Amino acid sequence: MRLADYLSVVGDPGRDDVEGWLYPTDAHLMSVINDLQIGRGFRGDILEIGAYKGKSAILLGFFPKSGESLTVCDIFDSEALVSDGNARENATFYPGLHQADFEKNYLRFHDRLPRVHVGSSEELREVVAARSCRFVHIDGGHTYEVARADMETARRVLGPAGVVVVDDWSSAHIPGVAMALWEQYLSGALTPLAFTKGKFYATWDPAGLTAEDVSDAVAASAGIEARTAVRLGRYAAASVTMTFGDWQRYNAGLRAVYSKLYADGGASAPQIVGF
Ligand SMILES: C[S@@+](CC[C@H](N)C(=O)[O-])C[C@H]1O[C@@H](n2cnc3c(N)ncnc32)[C@H](O)[C@@H]1O
Repeated sequence: MRLADYLSVVGDPGRDDVEGWLYPTDAHLMSVINDLQIGRGFRGDILEIGAYKGKSAILLGFFPKSGESLTVCDIFDSEALVSDGNARENATFYPGLHQADFEKNYLRFHDRLPRVHVGSSEELREVVAARSCRFVHIDGGHTYEVARADMETARRVLGPAGVVVVDDWSSAHIPGVAMALWEQYLSGALTPLAFTKGKFYATWDPAGLTAEDVSDAVAASAGIEARTAVRLGRYAAASVTMTFGDWQRYNAGLRAVYSKLYADGGASAPQIVGF
């Protein structure tokens, strides 16, 4: 399968059967940013913190070019030691998660597994070299302490034109992520590139990609669009959404999936929301 095929799977609820939290807007925007980096000759590895059953890792698995690699880090069903808050969150949201489910899903779309680090993201300091990455997706533990440490890891491992993507940056039930993000932002060093309902895109490299680069690339790509840039202190960045037509199609697809689930007796839905 190719990247474009996976994007169309993620955009079609009738075919998208990998459980997880990657939605079409972010799948497209991540892909647009990957294309921008590649097009401008920026090279480096890809890192994901928090893989769950592989939904976003499968997308990231299409990004590495020759000489680059994808590393994913997750606790999965290991006995990795984490703080009480982190352990409670994992028990609540990811019960019954098995590394084998991640691997099975990933290998449906790729010939080989990525490098998998099973354990707490704290351990990445010994595993991923400084300035070796160009793209880091943070979607692991959502307590302030874990999100803060993951932001620091991203800052350390990102090299030239590196981009960090922070999931759940504005989710009310896990405000620690927002606190960790804005802390970095208000320090003055993190520059926003764009944001969606689910993820915040930014860089620490003042000579790397700009919010304007991203908006222009979004305007030239199908499926998503950039709204007017919103000023956030000394920077501005655009909110990126699906185009209205794509959103209508996606919602019709979701309705069809849910109607079938309810008609079949209300079996639990693989995903609850989509945007
Ligand atoms: C929201 S899920 C990831 C969703 C995935 N990115 C997707 O697209 O479907 C969060 C994942 O982070 C993992 N996790 C939680 N705390 C972690 C930690 N401290 N270190 C590494 N992984 C962690 C959980 O096991 C879970 O699989």
